[in-house]
Amino acid sequence: MEKKKEIVMSGIRPTGFLHLGNYFGAVRNYVRMQEEFECYFMVADLHSLTTHPDTKELKTNVHRVLAENIACGLDPEKVALYCQSHVYETSELYLYLNMLAYKGELEKTVTFKDKVRQHPDNVNAGLLTYPVLQTADIILHRAKYVPVGKDQEQHLEMARNFANRFNHRYGEVFPEPMAFNYGDELIKVPSLDGAGKMSKSINQYATLYLSDDDNLIRKKVMKAKTDSGPTEPNSPKPDYIENIFLLMKLVSATDVVEKFESDYNNCTVRYGDLKKQLAEDMVAFISPIRERAEHIRNDEKYLRDVMEKGAEKARTSAKATMELVRQAMGLNYF
Ligand code: TYM
Repeated sequence: MEKKKEIVMSGIRPTGFLHLGNYFGAVRNYVRMQEEFECYFMVADLHSLTTHPDTKELKTNVHRVLAENIACGLDPEKVALYCQSHVYETSELYLYLNMLAYKGELEKTVTFKDKVRQHPDNVNAGLLTYPVLQTADIILHRAKYVPVGKDQEQHLEMARNFANRFNHRYGEVFPEPMAFNYGDELIKVPSLDGAGKMSKSINQYATLYLSDDDNLIRKKVMKAKTDSGPTEPNSPKPDYIENIFLLMKLVSATDVVEKFESDYNNCTVRYGDLKKQLAEDMVAFISPIRERAEHIRNDEKYLRDVMEKGAEKARTSAKATMELVRQAMGLNYF
């Protein structure tokens, strides 16, 4: 008999263009995991409502995220690729989990505190319970592995707490979900200005999007912060230089990285050349994805079919879990 595959779940908010951080933190792993696991990947449109209540652009953005995921190599025949709002069971589980989540712990969440600072006039209950909805997404499929970037670590820790709390109170239904990356550690792709991480909305000039055209990529990379170079052999690298090397390791050939590392260590590095090389390697990496995504995005019928098929697979899994949940909770009165 074929061994049952372990379950994987993850999601991306449709709040802007996908960037290199989304790719290396999440989508690259999705593409590899689809060969070995039973995968559920979705566009987190409900989550986006916590910060983007205006839905005018939502359809375009949902289509864009789907198209970009497929352009990166995700195969909708192999995985369930769906839209969060198409699986109503998510909202039901979210409701039950809300009774197990405490105001104090939710208020302490780093992403909540950041959002309160960024949008002080829209501190809604959905924002506070964001990690509860994320937990519902994950455990709805009884997923064990969740491929995400480093910024999602705390949300995953909370998901484990909520799942364990449910199991403890009502009986064992959920496995403990774990943040996952094929390397040793979760990834944080730094921004080009040396401050923080690449992000969908903050400092767009320091973020490389999968939709950037070749010249824009070159311009952004050439503007990355550098200095006049090391004066002592084998000096430690300042953060912004370390970040450029980190980006290079993601897209350039090993011998290229080694050459610039050794130039750095013997103080002969020319940052202009290094950035030119990085820019060309970025262009070679991003442009085929951009072109495929543009093509897929224009095929609305195909995207509709993908969403429908994905939602069907996701609902089948969700329904089975919710049967167990209602039974465990004693919500079966017939
Ligand atoms: P979101 O949309 O902010 O990001 C999507 C994925 O990209 C990763 N990521 C990064 N990784 C490395 N470096 C970066 N600079 C970087 N920026 C973003 C994120 O870690 C994430 O994996 N809350 C989630 C969406 C979500 C979800 C879920 C995730 C909703 N439900 C269930 C997993 C499971 C979010 O806002 O991701």
